[in-house]
Amino acid sequence: MDDGLTRREMIGASALAACLAGSFGVDAQAQVLPSPDASARRRMRLEHWRFHLGHAADVEKDFGFGRDQRTFAKAGWETADASSLKFDDSGWAEVIVPHDWAVALPFAPPKAPPGKDNNDARAAHGFKAIGRDFPANSVGWYRTPIAVTAADKGRCIWLEFDGVFRDAIVFVNGYIVHRNASGYAPFSVRIDEFLDYDGGPNAVTVRCDATLGEGWFYEGAGIYRHVDLVAAEPVHIPQLGTFVRTELRSDGALVHTSTEVLNSGSTPASAVLRQSILGPRTNTALPDTTLKLAPGERRVIEQEVLVKTPQFWSLEEPNLYTLHSQLESGGTPIDDFQTRFGIRSIKFDAERGFFLNGKPVKLLGTCNHQDHAGVGTGIPDTLHRWRVAQLKEMGSNAWRSAHNPPATALLEACDEMGMLMICEQRINSSSDEALSELERMIRRDRNHPCVILWSLGNEEPHQATDRGARINAELQEHVRRLDPTRPTTFAMDKGWDTGVGRVVDVLGFNYRTNQIEAYHARHPEQPVYGSETGSTVATRGEYANDPKRHILRAYDTEHPWWATTAEEWWTIAAERPYISGGFVWTGFDYRGEPTPFAQFPSISSQFGILDTCGFPKDDYYYYRAWWRPDRPLVHLLPHWNWPGHEGKPVEVWAQGNTEEVELRLNGRSLGRKPMPRNRHLEWRVPYAPGRLEAIGYNRGRVAARDVRETTGAPHAVQLLADRRIARGGEAVILNAAVVDSRGRVVPTASNLLRFAANGGEIIGVGNGNPNSIEPDVASQRRAFNGFAQAILRVGRASGPVDISVSTQSLASARLRIAAL
Ligand code: GAL
Repeated sequence: MDDGLTRREMIGASALAACLAGSFGVDAQAQVLPSPDASARRRMRLEHWRFHLGHAADVEKDFGFGRDQRTFAKAGWETADASSLKFDDSGWAEVIVPHDWAVALPFAPPKAPPGKDNNDARAAHGFKAIGRDFPANSVGWYRTPIAVTAADKGRCIWLEFDGVFRDAIVFVNGYIVHRNASGYAPFSVRIDEFLDYDGGPNAVTVRCDATLGEGWFYEGAGIYRHVDLVAAEPVHIPQLGTFVRTELRSDGALVHTSTEVLNSGSTPASAVLRQSILGPRTNTALPDTTLKLAPGERRVIEQEVLVKTPQFWSLEEPNLYTLHSQLESGGTPIDDFQTRFGIRSIKFDAERGFFLNGKPVKLLGTCNHQDHAGVGTGIPDTLHRWRVAQLKEMGSNAWRSAHNPPATALLEACDEMGMLMICEQRINSSSDEALSELERMIRRDRNHPCVILWSLGNEEPHQATDRGARINAELQEHVRRLDPTRPTTFAMDKGWDTGVGRVVDVLGFNYRTNQIEAYHARHPEQPVYGSETGSTVATRGEYANDPKRHILRAYDTEHPWWATTAEEWWTIAAERPYISGGFVWTGFDYRGEPTPFAQFPSISSQFGILDTCGFPKDDYYYYRAWWRPDRPLVHLLPHWNWPGHEGKPVEVWAQGNTEEVELRLNGRSLGRKPMPRNRHLEWRVPYAPGRLEAIGYNRGRVAARDVRETTGAPHAVQLLADRRIARGGEAVILNAAVVDSRGRVVPTASNLLRFAANGGEIIGVGNGNPNSIEPDVASQRRAFNGFAQAILRVGRASGPVDISVSTQSLASARLRIAAL
């Protein structure tokens, strides 16, 4: 966010797209920059691309071969056929970015007998047919035409990529204008010199090569985050050119602003910088600055202003401010740049933990990768928000972006919804390239109030060595220069007393929560927290281990040897104020790294508190109970459909936070027990079909209830759309449940559900089953233990969207979303 256009306005701009003849596909539409008079700076989101999987032409004409291997012979000429304006891409698929091509690929079981090790490349990436064994699926090409007119000549024009997986080559009209290796770091490319300004199409082409991965988890492939085209006058505020810091004082908040102004033109220029701070209630003007800039000069203007009675950014009220910067020349506005920030203070105290705005806040966190059912890493903004909302509802207040810089859209959601964030560098190295990636992350993310820590790395082999210490000391120096306001951290799994542990400000413990106490005694001056904690593995809605089927019971009992249950780590962390909190591995199940079953067809991990669709597993309610203790809750498990088990004992658990819980079966009390703090209750109940009920009491009064009833057979489907999150968004998350004739979710149902939408497009489906190899990019999916999900893209639909879900034999469901 840096130029004040809302998403709707950006879409409005691209809706101006004109039909242009040329060699692009017959119905190609150049995305046209809005008229220069509309505003001094223009930004357009490039959503519409043509996509080709594999080599673009035949291999001989593809990149690196060219005609007679002339790719690098002459700039802009025969670099790669598909990068030229003349290339006919009419046969390529039309896609909308964010786009992950890997999620649409088939699954590929290993050829050799499976090993135990989930570091196996195929298993690690979720058994998708991508990587070294699948060269044709590992390269992807994107093209989009953009049009500029004579009025744009002389302006500084660039492309901003928030993240492309991976090894991206950006071409404009056949010229190689940029190469970017990282699959996670943002980058930008100046392109004005390569454009034709006659209003006709210019070819922007991106070649991605996802043969090599960076992670041991599913990473997706392609342009999976936003791309913007930006144009500004020669004198302008460059991308990421502002930094706002706030300092709380007794008389208000002192706001420091650093603003870069660049003269990218070839003549001297003068301008006036006019700035103000726009708040939720009041605006505050800063003094004007008159500038004279030589050609190519970049000047940094530092200002300070006191905001009296500031509205703090907090978890409950995430108030946001905007630094509005305008440049004027001879009375004419030449630039307009908006920087969103929050007024808040953060502090890590070695004895008392984390503080936000002077108040202690335990970090109730989860670690997450960046994929979701159906869409992989190509996550619509609305889905980012929905995922944050699911975790907030559980009581979580912090997110660790493991193990890479997050999408800007996710940071914006965290800013707006009140979720703290740890941003993590991908490559833990002080090489020039890694330093540049770190710098790009920090400069992009340092104005986001949600960001509280810069994580330099995770479990690197050099973590406990002198060499590791030297590398990370260099990275830390770099962080201090770019952002002196936030501490550094590192997630270590051993050797905390040495190496990196002696360098970073706040030390992360991956697992081993029971070792933190002794460490704290040895190093009482260093703040500590659990950078990866817990790690119960569970299959949603299953209650008996079945290793042959790769199924894990969803009681809080199963975990790999290096990890613990939810209850084990939280009972340690909750009671020790010096532990700033912890980040459960993980919030959501993620594709790849299938654990504990590394063999096909396990395509995702089972660590999540929620499954890959964001449907809660039972542990969700353990955390919900103890992370929101002010809201009475009881939750019962398992479900109560056990035909054939009549009279046999069933292990019944109640999660919850009321003082006492009573269990009743078919109206008969099975006893009332006090709920131990941060724990759960258990009964062994001889199974009889009917109604199992938990009643939670506070001070002797009923405060919460939960019921499991033996249901009838599947009878109908129900459909639910989260309208709160959908409002104003480009996507809707549709959850379908299979219910019996009395509207109760059938907890074992696996009916095939078909989704259809009139006015939108179903872009992916899922059901949270870690062992399902049904296609993701489809409009039908089997329910898994009662539930399935579809992601609907509504794009520019302005009218109502009609959605239906049907099955062969059950009553179907319909839903109309009136206006978004
Ligand atoms: C950690 C690692 C994570 C994930 C996890 C699985 O060691 O940092 O990325 O692999 O183990 O338990």
